[in-house]
Amino acid sequence: MYKKLISPFLFLFDPEKIHNFTFLLIKIFFKVPLSGFLIRSYYNIDNNKLKRDLFGLTFSNPVGIAAGFDKNATHITEFEKFGFGFIEIGTVTPEPQKGNPKKRLFRLKEDDAIINRMGFNNDGVLKIKKRLKKDYKVIIGGNIGKNKNTPNSEAKNDYLICFKELYDYVDYFVVNVSSPNTPGLRELQSKDFLNDLFKDLNEIRFKKNISRPILIKISPDLSNEKIVEILDVIKDNKIDGVIATNTTIDTVNLKSRNKNEKGGLSGAPLYNKSNEVISFISKKTKGKLPIIGVGGISTPKQAIEKIRSGAHLIQLYTGIIYEGPGIVRKINKKLLDQEL
Ligand code: FNR
Repeated sequence: MYKKLISPFLFLFDPEKIHNFTFLLIKIFFKVPLSGFLIRSYYNIDNNKLKRDLFGLTFSNPVGIAAGFDKNATHITEFEKFGFGFIEIGTVTPEPQKGNPKKRLFRLKEDDAIINRMGFNNDGVLKIKKRLKKDYKVIIGGNIGKNKNTPNSEAKNDYLICFKELYDYVDYFVVNVSSPNTPGLRELQSKDFLNDLFKDLNEIRFKKNISRPILIKISPDLSNEKIVEILDVIKDNKIDGVIATNTTIDTVNLKSRNKNEKGGLSGAPLYNKSNEVISFISKKTKGKLPIIGVGGISTPKQAIEKIRSGAHLIQLYTGIIYEGPGIVRKINKKLLDQEL
């Protein structure tokens, strides 16, 4: 129904406006009595075989919402009912920021893809923290970054602020150093910066009663040498896992009218590229480093291939836009069929 009726209608409108409007409709819909119960009963698949234990957390199933979808953590209780095993909020920055000028989000329909140059528009860590509750049933990831105006020489402090503020409210953290839309951010994928940052993050978490897992989200545009360097940093600093991958700036071979827009490309054209990164990491770490695989998943078959490439958990963004929220249920059913 989503592909035949809903998405053709939604796709008539500006992508960012319709994203916000749909978020509003979801809020209104869930105010109707029994709506939450009905959505949960249809979409959610409760089955112990789908459970995943990773870095000290138990995920009810391996399919999550990628960062950027619910940046401001406004819809956690609603999305949880659609059957996602985890929801990653953010990217959150210390100060609120508007992001890049609009228009900054583009559908590439012929390519089943999206180009975005949102630029970390978000409400800022304090407001987002106030919104978060401590008793969600679903696992929450906190994806953290730096403000646009913070120079890279001071970036560490931005990550530390977000980490400290969100510490009691999220289950795991993601250090995002791979979005292409904050100038210079991807330069922070360097050994020196990461060693320095992880040392300080570890100092904080190892003093707490609960040590929250920390993951790093990487770009699909890194060379293999650079990935190996990051894997060494991960090992040296006892970092818990990697999210592969963020969007790519490689926009060759696209067909759609919007193909030349500046920004990060997600969806189908990213699929193989992110699988290659996942496979490479999985081989290098002999399958021992937890990997969250993200990039271009829009069918159950692709989800399974991503897992076979080495991903322990998977996330979606563009696939939800093109296929609708029912995709999670389909993936989880297929995982049960395949006993994965
Ligand atoms: C993103 N993504 C993203 N990632 C991140 O770490 N922080 C962010 O704020 C955002 N914001 C964002 C906005 C939009 C509009 C899109 C489409 C994507 C990247 C996202 O989490 C994911 O890594 C990629 O989109 C690849 O997955 P899909 O979309 O191909 O499933």
